[in-house]
Amino acid sequence: MHEQAQPISVLPARAVRGELAIPGDKSISHRSIMLGALAQGTSRITNFLRGEDNFSTMKAFRAMGVPIEDDGQTIIVHGVGLHGLKEPGDVLDCGNSGTTIRLMTGLLSGQSFFSVLTGDQYLRKRPMKRVVEPLARMGARIAGRGGGTLAPLAITGGSLAGIDYQSPIASAQVKSALMLAGLYASGETRVTEPSLSRDHSERMFTFFGADLDRSSHGVTVRGGRELQGQEICVPGDISSAAFFLVAALIVTGSELLIRNVGVNPTRTGVIDILQAMGGDITLQDQREVSGEPVADLLVRSSRLKGVEIGGDLVPRAIDEFPAICVAAAVAEGITVIRDAKELRVKETDRIAAMARNLRVVGAGQIDETEDGMVIHGVESLTGGAVTSCGDHRIAMSLSVAALVCKHKVEIDDVACVATSFPGFYELLDRVSVR
Ligand code: S3P
Repeated sequence: MHEQAQPISVLPARAVRGELAIPGDKSISHRSIMLGALAQGTSRITNFLRGEDNFSTMKAFRAMGVPIEDDGQTIIVHGVGLHGLKEPGDVLDCGNSGTTIRLMTGLLSGQSFFSVLTGDQYLRKRPMKRVVEPLARMGARIAGRGGGTLAPLAITGGSLAGIDYQSPIASAQVKSALMLAGLYASGETRVTEPSLSRDHSERMFTFFGADLDRSSHGVTVRGGRELQGQEICVPGDISSAAFFLVAALIVTGSELLIRNVGVNPTRTGVIDILQAMGGDITLQDQREVSGEPVADLLVRSSRLKGVEIGGDLVPRAIDEFPAICVAAAVAEGITVIRDAKELRVKETDRIAAMARNLRVVGAGQIDETEDGMVIHGVESLTGGAVTSCGDHRIAMSLSVAALVCKHKVEIDDVACVATSFPGFYELLDRVSVR
């Protein structure tokens, strides 16, 4: 996607101090455009994440005839109603965004037109069978490379029938793809997952007036009911806050206030894990904004210790493992991560990428397992030349690791950071005391 590699050197820091607000939540920003587009009337979105992934979603809806204004502050989506999308004149390019391609596959399956979804070299390697297969059971007609398991995906929209789907994985993308298809399906579309993945779709469907029921690990959508445009203020992304949480915990003498962070319980696994490691993190001024819980996070440097992480905690912290690995690398004792096989099919294989890169910067023994890793913590790291593997969260995690290295860390390409966190390096510089 990025033609020009953007290398960077990150220097050690003496402390991480001050106050910052991090950009809007990526998952919620995607969904605000999607539901805003399908609703009747206007939706106004503030604190929208201006990341490349979210622009991919925005561009796709513009290409289907949805007027979307952006004055740099507020995004205004002029909804076209459930049946108002138009056939796009070209292939829809989802860039690096797994959320865009998987959710759109569900949504487009129920349209009365043909569409093609593709993405960058990384996205075209990621598994799509997890959405294609249950959607096909609803009646969707989807063709793709690798027998319909890889993008580009060609979708011949048509009528769908609801199913009762027991998902083998806890995936919000799978669940949301079926929920969006369910808006167009006859009867009920029910999705049950082995443990609850992020529930932003359930919350936003409810906020927009969709016909939906929830149970502990399941959701049922009944199609046909029109959605109504809403005002949405997107909370800060806890997945972005995680880099600063870890930075402030591991660099001695640090104290940081991170304002306006989404603390939806399906996303706060990282706080639970870091607190279990001995991290001093306090939630302040807890409140609710646009149907989502929000708080300010006060974090102070702490002597961390290794922990065991697995089970239901994993989907609640799925995007934060690269950052958690950095905390584990400098914690006292051993951290064991299990039940996290999904990390192997993210923007890159995050288990392999973190193990390899942490070894380069002088971490202790790291053993990869099929579904996780075992990290032996050490006092401090040394530094060196690492690779982001084109993955935004690997790049940012290694930048945080650099703060506690003796020497600089050179990262080969951080252009990918713009997919989820434009302005990350400016913020990191601002709060780093050198
Ligand atoms: C997301 C769901 C998660 C997460 C991704 C965003 C979403 O993926 O890793 O960054 O917005 O629904 P999976 O559903 O594949 O676990």
